[in-house]
Amino acid sequence: MVARVIPVDCFDLVIFGATGDLARRKILPGLYRRWKEGQIPEGAVIIGAARSEMNVDGYREMIRAALDEFLNPSERDPEVMQSFLAMLDYVAIDARGEGGWKALAGKMRGDMVRAFYLSVAPALFGDIAARLHEHGIANRASRIVVEKPFGNDLESARALNDVLAGHFHEDQIYRIDHYLGKETVQNLMAVRFANILFEPLWNAQFVDHVQITVAETVGVGGRGDYYDHSGAMRDMVQNHMMQLLCLIAMEPPHHFEPDAMRDEKLKVIRALDPLAPGDLVRGQYSGDGGDDYLLESGNPDSMTESFIAMKLQISNWRWKGTPFYLRTGKRLKSRVSEIAVTFKEPPHSIFGESNLWRENVLVIRLQPDEGMDLRVMIKEPGPGGMRLKDVALDMSFAEALGNDLDIPDAYERLIMDVIRGNQTLFMRGDEVEAAWAWVDPVIAAWEARGDRPEPYDPGSTGPEGALMLMHRDGRRWREIR
Ligand code: BG6
Repeated sequence: MVARVIPVDCFDLVIFGATGDLARRKILPGLYRRWKEGQIPEGAVIIGAARSEMNVDGYREMIRAALDEFLNPSERDPEVMQSFLAMLDYVAIDARGEGGWKALAGKMRGDMVRAFYLSVAPALFGDIAARLHEHGIANRASRIVVEKPFGNDLESARALNDVLAGHFHEDQIYRIDHYLGKETVQNLMAVRFANILFEPLWNAQFVDHVQITVAETVGVGGRGDYYDHSGAMRDMVQNHMMQLLCLIAMEPPHHFEPDAMRDEKLKVIRALDPLAPGDLVRGQYSGDGGDDYLLESGNPDSMTESFIAMKLQISNWRWKGTPFYLRTGKRLKSRVSEIAVTFKEPPHSIFGESNLWRENVLVIRLQPDEGMDLRVMIKEPGPGGMRLKDVALDMSFAEALGNDLDIPDAYERLIMDVIRGNQTLFMRGDEVEAAWAWVDPVIAAWEARGDRPEPYDPGSTGPEGALMLMHRDGRRWREIR
């Protein structure tokens, strides 16, 4: 299937932290793919900026190696690679000093879209933003892109928002949550708002509960130091899971447009009830050998959670009374991200007690095997009366849309949106603050109680407590296969 590719305006894109892991693993391979698809216009320039002293040839070599490592063999095309590398420039820069800024200013061209991607520690946001202005590099039309973690709590997030607001207007700031760039996450909006089918049932009257699962098989690996100060709540819930929750629970915006979308998401976060201690389970993987959180994090006394499960309640007219169960964790049985909306029982069964009723469930699979299935009741074929059976109306996107379906990486989509000037899939400052405002007291409460996370076996589905969170409500988690 040939996708419709809309080229963007010509641009100067400066990537700060251009030698770092994210730039090499995601940002530059993503840009390469867009170049290969013809979406990046001739004449666009990508300027790597980092501390290392290097000339442009050195940088191009570094990125050639990164592309070799992180692109699939089928994506590599020597000619395209050559022309892509020719688009790269490099400047050695001292974010906190003066070195390199004049050189960078000299590279900026008149009428281009200017975008600055800050793939650096948040502590540097302020310095970089200030220097971009002092040296006349950024102007009112420029865009600045920042990565997570956007703060560690409400106070630090506010401080970051203030620092950025000191130099850029909100409509110039692109806060990345890469989950919003995932095709299947965007599909949630299409499923909800491009079909009449689900919306009338999408409320507490008809939905029994919603489960959101993001299970990973990876551990904290080499990121132990960062992760141990973060944990699943800050690393996954405050941002990615909260965004998924918003997209599932929000009211239909009047238009698929940045502020309309973000206003509705914000209302969901603000309507979240404070979390009761009993509605929270934290876990930490604990195994023999290398598969142990305490060993991997390098902190033998760590009380950080690598798993979290929660029961959330949204107090608004649509959702009051329908719980949302969220769980995410590392070193689990398999890698699965999905959202399951379980509907209520029909008000009356005409088929009698002997027929076992099963819930209708709409499952939206985000990764892997992106797709949707809807469990419905049918008559079991054959004699023996009216025996009912639940079956899945299963749709794999790859099958439905063609097996060569190429689902673009989240970063590709998001970077192109920055160039287009479309903020719909980026978080607004007040949204981020509202998420922290909900998360902070939950963390403060477990810290005050001195709660230890419950150990769970690597490769399992998480701690016992998480199962109990559901069982006590007469429900169960969907299996992580
Ligand atoms: C990142 C987290 O934001 O998202 C990681 O910091 C996590 O800990 C990752 O592994 C998950 O992203 P994805 O796209 O692999 O689901």
